[in-house]
Amino acid sequence: MRAPRKKPSRTIAPIIAARLNGRFTLHMQADGGIAAVSSDYSVSLGQFGAAATARAGHLATGLPLASLAGKSVLAQQIHALVRRLAQHGLLDYRLFSPRDAQDLVVIEPQIAEYWPQRAKLSGSDTIVLSRFAYLRRRGNEMVLESPCAGALFRICDPAVAATLATLSQPQKISRLRRQAASLNLDLLGLLLDSGMLIRLDMKDGNGLRVTEGDHNLVLWDFHDLVFHTRSTEGRHTDPVGGTYAYAGAVPPLPAVRPPWPGKKVTLNKFATPEPASPFAKLLRERHSTRDFDDQHPVTLAELAQFLDTTARVLSEWKSGVDVDGGPEVTYSSRPYPAAGSAYELELYLTVSNCEGLARGLYHYDAGGHALVAIDASAQHLRALSMAAEFAMDASGPPQILITIAARFGRISWKYSSIAYSLILKDVGCLIQNFYLAATDMGLGGCAIGTSNIDLFARMTGLEFHVEGPVGQFALGRGRKAEGQG
Ligand SMILES: Cc1cc2nc3c(=O)[nH]c(=O)nc-3n(C[C@H](O)[C@H](O)[C@H](O)COP(=O)(O)O)c2cc1C
Repeated sequence: MRAPRKKPSRTIAPIIAARLNGRFTLHMQADGGIAAVSSDYSVSLGQFGAAATARAGHLATGLPLASLAGKSVLAQQIHALVRRLAQHGLLDYRLFSPRDAQDLVVIEPQIAEYWPQRAKLSGSDTIVLSRFAYLRRRGNEMVLESPCAGALFRICDPAVAATLATLSQPQKISRLRRQAASLNLDLLGLLLDSGMLIRLDMKDGNGLRVTEGDHNLVLWDFHDLVFHTRSTEGRHTDPVGGTYAYAGAVPPLPAVRPPWPGKKVTLNKFATPEPASPFAKLLRERHSTRDFDDQHPVTLAELAQFLDTTARVLSEWKSGVDVDGGPEVTYSSRPYPAAGSAYELELYLTVSNCEGLARGLYHYDAGGHALVAIDASAQHLRALSMAAEFAMDASGPPQILITIAARFGRISWKYSSIAYSLILKDVGCLIQNFYLAATDMGLGGCAIGTSNIDLFARMTGLEFHVEGPVGQFALGRGRKAEGQG
């Protein structure tokens, strides 16, 4: 007698549900208004019908995304509410099994426009982990992150971590399925769509560095792209700037390092009462200016002189690279030092108040010593200026906000391990030029430590890994009353 065929066990598709970020609660008002409220922040989300308001209560534990798809008024209202919450970054997304309601992963969006999508996968597809994806402990959780991904994945089930380990090598879906009956294609689709996984074409071979992404991505070292995206704003949700996070736990270091105990050679006897040269005087006079005289804005002629003094191309030449068969490379010289003479830094000017120059965004063509207008939305320009105003705790937007962007590939084409650190050092050199030239011209300025790389990408259409902000400087005519910054 033939043994009965074993029935293949049906895998039940997991559910993906939108859930209100744990720091917020929904406040339902009597007039149908809904607001998301945290201890120090409230976002109004609009007016909704009674049924939608009741349904919205489920967002505390998770509303299945599938339930948003209907054509009914209720489904459409809930859909609008969920989208609004997503735009404000107030949602995370649970992927869980309906059998036991246990989370497999929780997806935390890292960029404003993230929305979970499942990329379609067939048995013949080959996938592998992105070389930028990394697992790490965060508090008592394990998280999968990548500077290329729009979301991070909190790994709640150790089996998911095991699958990820398998995916350090390219795997065909059909083979993966045979190995792990519980393989979760929905999860793999979400990971693929977010950029944690990549799909390999047959011609791509082994899925190593040169086959992932475009030529610009190939040039990024892993640590450099993580550093860039995590030390700027726009592609993560951690607090940024002066938060004094461990002020209660660790005492501050003193302003001046206590001297070493060794024999002291005093230099004071060489000091002169006045600065020893006009340059020394300029250095003494340099200071940060954060508030500007909007009745007497900087003029186009002054801006031209400022850029000519600090940043224009002075000469250009070509040279072969010191590797066999390497191509000839073009170089320039400019009024500041730059690693490898790469001069990867570009200046983008957000002009709010400059006599003789219309408001808007401009690129400084350092070779042609010209400003080239870039079409950018007024909303984006305002957002950029307001962020600078906030960073300086100033009373208004800077007359001109200079965003220093790097053409990353210009420097990473040559340097391994140190490319991004060289870029930041180059920014320091250029910013000191800006400070000194502004002081010399009777203008004022201030370096700004933060910049939003996602906003800049949306403004310019330049991908964040190709060319993006690495520094900012506010420029204008300082208010007379203001003393030292
Ligand atoms: C890299 C860098 C980042 C800075 N970021 C900011 C900033 O975000 N906001 C601000 O108001 N000042 C910023 N500053 C200015 C410093 O606060 C200022 O240089 C410092 O307080 C010394 O004052 P002084 O420049 O007037 O001598 C920055 C300066 C540097 C060099």
